[in-house]
Amino acid sequence: MCGIIGYTGEQKAAPILIEGLSALEYRGYDSSGVALLADGEITAVKSKGRIAVLEEKLENTKLPEATCGIGHTRWATHGEPSDINAHPHLSSSLALVHNGIIENYRAIENHLSLSGYDFVSQTDTEAAAHLIDFYYQKTNDPVEALCSAADEMRGSFAFGVVFANIPDTIYAIRKDSPLIVAATGSAGLIASDITAILAHTNKYFRIDEGIVAVVKKGEINFLDREGKKVAQNEETVDWTVSRAQKSGFSHFMQKEIFEEPDAIRKTVTPRLLSGIPDFGNDAPNGETLAKFDRIHIVACGTAMHAGLIGKAFTERLARVPVNVEIASEFRYRDPILGENDLVILLSQSGETADTLAALRHAKARGTATLAIVNVIGSSVAREADSVIYTLAGPEIAVASTKAYSVQCAVLVLLAVSTALGRGQMSQADAEDICRAMSENVPDDVAAVLKMSDDICKVAKKYTGCEDLFYIGRGIDADMCTEGSLKLKEISYIHSEAYAAGELKHGTISLVTEGVPVVALITERALCEKVISAIREVKSRGARVLCIVTDDIAEDFDIPCDDMIRFPASVPELALFSAASVLQLFAYHAASARGLDVDKPRNLAKSVTVE
Ligand code: F6R
Repeated sequence: MCGIIGYTGEQKAAPILIEGLSALEYRGYDSSGVALLADGEITAVKSKGRIAVLEEKLENTKLPEATCGIGHTRWATHGEPSDINAHPHLSSSLALVHNGIIENYRAIENHLSLSGYDFVSQTDTEAAAHLIDFYYQKTNDPVEALCSAADEMRGSFAFGVVFANIPDTIYAIRKDSPLIVAATGSAGLIASDITAILAHTNKYFRIDEGIVAVVKKGEINFLDREGKKVAQNEETVDWTVSRAQKSGFSHFMQKEIFEEPDAIRKTVTPRLLSGIPDFGNDAPNGETLAKFDRIHIVACGTAMHAGLIGKAFTERLARVPVNVEIASEFRYRDPILGENDLVILLSQSGETADTLAALRHAKARGTATLAIVNVIGSSVAREADSVIYTLAGPEIAVASTKAYSVQCAVLVLLAVSTALGRGQMSQADAEDICRAMSENVPDDVAAVLKMSDDICKVAKKYTGCEDLFYIGRGIDADMCTEGSLKLKEISYIHSEAYAAGELKHGTISLVTEGVPVVALITERALCEKVISAIREVKSRGARVLCIVTDDIAEDFDIPCDDMIRFPASVPELALFSAASVLQLFAYHAASARGLDVDKPRNLAKSVTVE
């Protein structure tokens, strides 16, 4: 989705804005632009396409010696990607960058047209620029202008604004869309996420809704609409610039898969006390968890797939019914929520619009909420009753990998804690699983990573495919949904995931000579059933790749054309190694196709609009 950066300080603003925009590239965009403020004038340079095109344009433009400016990467929603539709948008007194969607922009345009405003773009954002200008012309007060305009707009927004007649100052306001501000000794910064300003600082403030941040060099004031100063909490991330760089890997996605052992260890270890799960004061523990009659796990995409793993473990170990739902459906479906229910929101970014709306829906119904989130201080984390942070570090590649693994890890710990609280599991069994989670699992995943070149060789055999099926049973069927999503989003190979027993109820009609089928087998109890499904597809000509744990491969005769065997020293937790195999398979298939693995077409890292 769109990205925002703003800088005011002592250095030239343009290169700093470009550096910030480059750090935001991972979010997905199709145009970019900057506005520079100097000597009472605003100069905007915008361009369709990659940031490199904008840089070239900047080099060929006579720019003012500006030390203050705002920049933006746009992911088109209203109007095609073009120079005109790119941000910043200008009005007579100001330039503005915007993340989010103004739903009532047509009505605003109509009323402002009557007041003489001309609209040159097809965007919703231009209406916001002119509306703020409209109020600024009336009041000559930037804070009042921003608040009045914000009151009139429906939808979501994070705005960064510079006014031509207010030197060295950036104004920021937001609603339902993330925006952070920061000050160093010599600079003031705004950004849509921390990665854009990590080169300057790891300390920042998230602006509360309805508050205007007035950012100058080395100084930020937070004002309410009466202009009274209010306090905001400073937050710190332990992320470093190097963690947000490729560090020798070809792609962020590859680097992030290789970070999985460490991410799992870092997420699990601090949540163990005397060998069993303990979330401290952050989140409900055993006895409290045991009181819930039903759990709903609500999330989008990959996070929702991690939710399926949470369901499997919670139901198996704790015998509590779990309902997994796509957040965009949950919010509009009027879900049945009992007074002893718990809604768990899973989100890497903590800013996904649908997940945030689902959280608000659950809270409005008085249901207990727990967030499992990777980005500290993000909206979902702040608004939920309690939060467990996954400690995966920054995830830059659009396709989620390590965040999925750590979400699964937290859900396994929650399942164990619930099972203990309900007396469904002995202390000794709980200790065994927890030990395995903190020791065996990271080691097994590390062993899978060593197989990356072998997985690459197999993946290359499948890069020419156009359609592919993933099949498995039990947890493997859940894993297949994620394996399939990973492959299609980055390699553009169409694929579908099926519970192996379901194929013959319709889909097997698509299996003909040479159709590739990936069969995942980690569940020994269901292994023979999957082998039967393999025989069924093979007898119709399918070409089968079997991804299977070493121990099952030893014990069973599996009819397949290719095989990837991987170690899983604790069979019940083989899903973590399997996840890495599936991710590496997708990664190598996509890179062999020469695709931009980290930035797949049409996709955005953090989906902050509905
Ligand atoms: C796919 C992917 C997405 C996200 C989804 C939710 O690789 O990354 O499906 O999982 O957009 O994002 P978060 O977890 O940030 O809420």
